[in-house]
Amino acid sequence: MEKLNAVITGVGGYVPDYILTNDEIAKMVDTSDEWIMTRIGVKERRILNEEGLGTSYMCRKAAKQLLQRTNTNPDDVDLVIVATSTPDYHFPSTASILCDKLGLKNAFAFDMQAACCGFLYMMETGANFIRSGRYKKVIIVGGDKMSSMVDYTDRATCPIFGDGAAAFMLEPTTENVGIMDAILQTDGKGLPFLHMKAGGSVCPPSYFTVDNRMHYIYQEGRTVFKYAVSNMSDVSAELAARNNLTKDDINWIIPHQANLRIIDAVAHRMEVPSEKVMVNIERYGNTSAGTLPLCIWDFEEKLKKGDNLIFTAFGAGFTWGAVYVKWGYDGKK
Ligand code: UT7
Repeated sequence: MEKLNAVITGVGGYVPDYILTNDEIAKMVDTSDEWIMTRIGVKERRILNEEGLGTSYMCRKAAKQLLQRTNTNPDDVDLVIVATSTPDYHFPSTASILCDKLGLKNAFAFDMQAACCGFLYMMETGANFIRSGRYKKVIIVGGDKMSSMVDYTDRATCPIFGDGAAAFMLEPTTENVGIMDAILQTDGKGLPFLHMKAGGSVCPPSYFTVDNRMHYIYQEGRTVFKYAVSNMSDVSAELAARNNLTKDDINWIIPHQANLRIIDAVAHRMEVPSEKVMVNIERYGNTSAGTLPLCIWDFEEKLKKGDNLIFTAFGAGFTWGAVYVKWGYDGKK
């Protein structure tokens, strides 16, 4: 039997309309547009501020666009995976809610939790379902409503994050394109540096946890920054080397959009010029599982069949890795 590759055949995305600017953030906490731009690189972020709407709302918008752009009959979808740290509910999965909202009758669905690295892990996971030969159309969606767990009284975290979602369609091909290789890593010793203190089974919600603001993102930024730079750089370099990709062979680097200084450091280490690095952090901030596919959503028209792409991300856990993709089509669908 011929070897099956998993190729990305389309992208769909969605960001909410409401724009939260740095000037507005400067009214909430002691900060400035200048500090946020120089230390993080975010100018504005989108916020899903309508009551009663959660992550599945944004995922549905992104996946609907994906179905349209790829001319997919919803009955043909075999599997939906959603990467998110901000599910609609603890249970059931956001993926199952999404399936219902999209009217997918023949798909099974589950969520993946790998924080900001969720989309990267899911690319390899989704690709393996395709490579098995048993699944023909797999939708992977990365989405987060980070505003639901950002403490807007904490100046060290609130400027960073935004809301958004985007999705890829994965399909089988015998051509030499698609998700070619991946290095994925986890180190649970990262727990103290980036987590939410309460709301899980270790510390269920109570008046105490609410009074003590324990349902927000807790981050020791400097430590996370240091690990993000070294781990994303190391793993991207290792992945390029083992696929014999020189810096000139790499057409694009797609880094997790957490901090422009981290993105610049990874590009510098890979010796790839800034025009080959996808960056949209200034408009969306860190949308966690949404950043990588939202980059492709924004830059799709510049991509050509056969382009070599390195995706890389780092997140809570710690989780990190890099995925090598040979792009499968020309321009925007
Ligand atoms: O996506 C998951 C992975 N997450 C990341 O990759 C995030 C990694 N970390 C970071 O991006 C950065 O560490 C931050 C953006 C979170 C913080 O930037 P930093 O340059 O590491 O700042 P810092 O925490 O070392 O703080 C430097 C100073 C402190 O003041 P003092 O103690 O030196 O007087 C902070 O209080 O900057 C202060 N500061 C601020 N000042 C103005 C922290 N936040 C702000 C702010 N405005 N918003």
